Amino acid sequence: MRQHHRSTRLLGSLLLVAAAGVLGVGAAPPAAARHATPLDRIVPAPASVTPGGSPYRLTRDTHIRVDDSREARRVGAYLADVLRPSTGYRLPVTTHGRGGIRLRLAKGPFGAEGYRLDSDGRGVTITAAAPAGLFHGVQTLRQLLPAAVEKDTVQPGPWLVAGGTIRDTPRYGWRGAMLDVSRHFLTVDQVKRYIDQLALYKLNKLHLHLSDDQGWRIAVDAWPRLATHGGSTQVGGGPGGHYTKADYQEIVRHAASRHLEVVPELDMPGHTNAALSSYAALNCDGVAPPLYTGTEVGFSSLCVNKEITYDFVDDVVRELAALTPGRYLHIGGDEAHSTSHEDYVTFMDRVQPIVAEYGKTVVGWHQLTGATPAKGALAQYWGLDSTGAAEKAQVAEAAQNGTGLILSPADRIYLDMKYDANTPLGLSWAGYVDVRRSYDWDPGAYLPGAPPEAVRGVEAPLWTETIENSAHVEYMAFPRLAGAAELGWSPAATHGWDGYRVRLAAQGPRWDALGIGYHRAPEVPWPAR
Ligand code: ACM
Repeated sequence: MRQHHRSTRLLGSLLLVAAAGVLGVGAAPPAAARHATPLDRIVPAPASVTPGGSPYRLTRDTHIRVDDSREARRVGAYLADVLRPSTGYRLPVTTHGRGGIRLRLAKGPFGAEGYRLDSDGRGVTITAAAPAGLFHGVQTLRQLLPAAVEKDTVQPGPWLVAGGTIRDTPRYGWRGAMLDVSRHFLTVDQVKRYIDQLALYKLNKLHLHLSDDQGWRIAVDAWPRLATHGGSTQVGGGPGGHYTKADYQEIVRHAASRHLEVVPELDMPGHTNAALSSYAALNCDGVAPPLYTGTEVGFSSLCVNKEITYDFVDDVVRELAALTPGRYLHIGGDEAHSTSHEDYVTFMDRVQPIVAEYGKTVVGWHQLTGATPAKGALAQYWGLDSTGAAEKAQVAEAAQNGTGLILSPADRIYLDMKYDANTPLGLSWAGYVDVRRSYDWDPGAYLPGAPPEAVRGVEAPLWTETIENSAHVEYMAFPRLAGAAELGWSPAATHGWDGYRVRLAAQGPRWDALGIGYHRAPEVPWPAR
């Protein structure tokens, strides 16, 4: 055994020397070096890539050297957790001595989330100004290693990282994914699994749609029946569920450990049947409707002219804000078809200051622009290419007046839209959204008349009328989520379908290794399995 280990090690050193290019100028690259993934074969496309020099080979002697800060050590420990099972190496995380892999915090042109990755025969160094940048650099490093690095059993390697430099900063500060846990409830573990997947593609916001007609999913002390009654079913009549405050905080903590901020949504004044069913007093006629397990929209409304409505909003916003370290609270505002326009405006005029009172910034679906968005509010656009000019102009005008935009066009990045007529899950009211369509648009030029600087980023929502578990989530999200992530991260200059489909294809074996059951879309040249 010992002998065997030694010889493996010796072979490893020889390969390292070979990989370092010491074999002589003009010699063909060693076989192993040819296996290194090119630095630009990643998703999202990096801002700038300068390939060159020798690859680095991860060995059993590699250490992960980090700066002596809690945050840097955390990122180092996360990287070690990713790499240890498949490499079988110890990969100690150290704050001194030789590195191999080094995570370094330093001043530089990185912004809050950017990083630089330098790789040569001696090591790989990721430099960033903030821990989030180190974390995103680590995601890049994962993709530069062979796909088998994602497996949870020991694999043969070799573990090569191509030589060169990547300089990378995101185009947008808002790169989100929304999960509807109301239509079908998803457990804490299912949400954590999705968070881990979002982190792979450098997303930084998890928007949780916590309430809708079919279910209220967060415990509220002042109104306990919201969760116990309002959360007791779901689409199709299953048992539903809700998050206790401890559950929600566990999700928030897990998201933070992956450098994602949770943006909670309580959808109001429509989409409120679960709340109305829980408390008769919230209804204009004082009668609680039954719970609802269908998939219609637009039939429920809070009672805008009753004072108790604002006591309710104050309590639920206060309690949710107190559980949420992030800056934003989403108040929905879509499809309020059972609320008159006048009432809608009145409601938003009263509710937005409550959000501000508890220290949060308002986000609303873009119908909020039909009322008066609060100063600093963000509007999330979910229209279609074919949405009427007047509706688009209303959103553009709000953007001209300072309302920031999050772009979630439904016929582009609604992950619950079917890919094509054969997709077994999902809906098609916005049309079929194939992989190319979901990728091939420019957030900076999408909405006519909106100033490009009003666009804060993109978000890919996943509504769950037909989605019941992680396998369903993953089939609809992958591969389209990767495209949404690229639209949010990569400079417009890197955009191009022909290059993207090749980089996307390289993700397939990674998803296989991670147990993600993705849609093998025909327009992507996936490697044979
Ligand atoms: C929405 O799809 N109703 C925001």
